[in-house]
Amino acid sequence: MKMKTEIIKIDRNNCETDKLRYAAEIMRNGGTVVFPTETVYGLGACALSQEAVGKIFEAKGRPADNPLIVHIAYGHGENHKGGGMLETLTDNVSSDAKKLMEAFWPGPLTIIFRKSAAVPSIVTAGLDTVAVRMPSHPVALALITMAGVPIAAPSANSSGKPSPTSVKHVIDDLMGRVDVIIDAGDTDIGLESTVLDISAAPPAILRPGGVTIEEVRKVLRDVQYKEEIFIPEGESAAPRSPGMKYTHYSPKAQVVVVEGDMKKVVEKIRELYEAQAGNGLKVGILATTQTQSRYEGELVATVGDRDNPHSIASNLFRALREFDEKGADIILAEGISEEGIGAAVMNRLRKAAGPGNIIKV
Ligand code: TXA
Ligand code: MG
Repeated sequence: MKMKTEIIKIDRNNCETDKLRYAAEIMRNGGTVVFPTETVYGLGACALSQEAVGKIFEAKGRPADNPLIVHIAYGHGENHKGGGMLETLTDNVSSDAKKLMEAFWPGPLTIIFRKSAAVPSIVTAGLDTVAVRMPSHPVALALITMAGVPIAAPSANSSGKPSPTSVKHVIDDLMGRVDVIIDAGDTDIGLESTVLDISAAPPAILRPGGVTIEEVRKVLRDVQYKEEIFIPEGESAAPRSPGMKYTHYSPKAQVVVVEGDMKKVVEKIRELYEAQAGNGLKVGILATTQTQSRYEGELVATVGDRDNPHSIASNLFRALREFDEKGADIILAEGISEEGIGAAVMNRLRKAAGPGNIIKV
């Protein structure tokens, strides 16, 4: 696959431009456009066209059994949330769904609905449900509104790599594999949306993300995590979110996460560093503001401040990619508290590490 990719720069404070209209037109006509969202960059195509959606799977090298999130905007001339696009995708919007949409859209919450006949089965990997969200990034909203059709969009990385938070990451993975890449600077949150399934009781978070469980609980009291999110699932368990069975967010280097009391975590990482560096391996350390001075070695990255887990969320994927660029063989990562967005950070770190590489101290 080798095609011409156009890069279009858009100012997020001025979206009403012919350049953005041009990109929207490409998606209307069945092409692929990478665009920023408030979470990570997405690789979009018209969700109602099987052929267009097929190009997404091909560009990413994504397994066909991993379904996509469909992105909507307000729709032409309408100002109510969902704006006609949601009604195309599902025939049944429950009162819980309405409350969630009211509270969190536009924003990083993906809700699972029963799908309508208009959604091609390639989008949902044959499931009878469809995942939908309304992103809050001004460029994403304007682009989808201009396209006038719902847009299927997974994260714009090659399958298995950390999601892209800057256009550089997108270019590294998808140059020559998509029609257009929109560059509007770094994304805000840095981790993907929360995926919430309200189709079965109790409502379950299938993937922790930009909206925290504490926030969702203010609207839906009994929401729980689907337990496989934190306990690596066995071969036999059929995952409710098909994406959960894949090793995601993995850089080339082996990630090892050390979790527990901060002081003990630092001691353990120092010990592992000595052993691995002694073996001649290039060892990266993912540290925090509070701990960075406790480490030596050439590859120590401070990912953010433990008292501000949002800073950690927004830098995590970039830091993982940078370790790859610097040729790290192994990355020793500190665990952080699972409160708030910390739950999503820890979910991504554990997935990057894999079940055998999570150390509790
Ligand atoms: O923040 C985000 O959600 C980003 C931006 C671009 O919007 N998108 C994103 O898409 O992360 P993707 O494809 O990388 O992740 C979608 C996740 C996968 O884990 C997938 O299995 C799950 O959503 N999913 C999609 N449709 C589903 C469905 N019908 N039922 C259960 N899980 C579903
Ligand atoms: Mg993804």
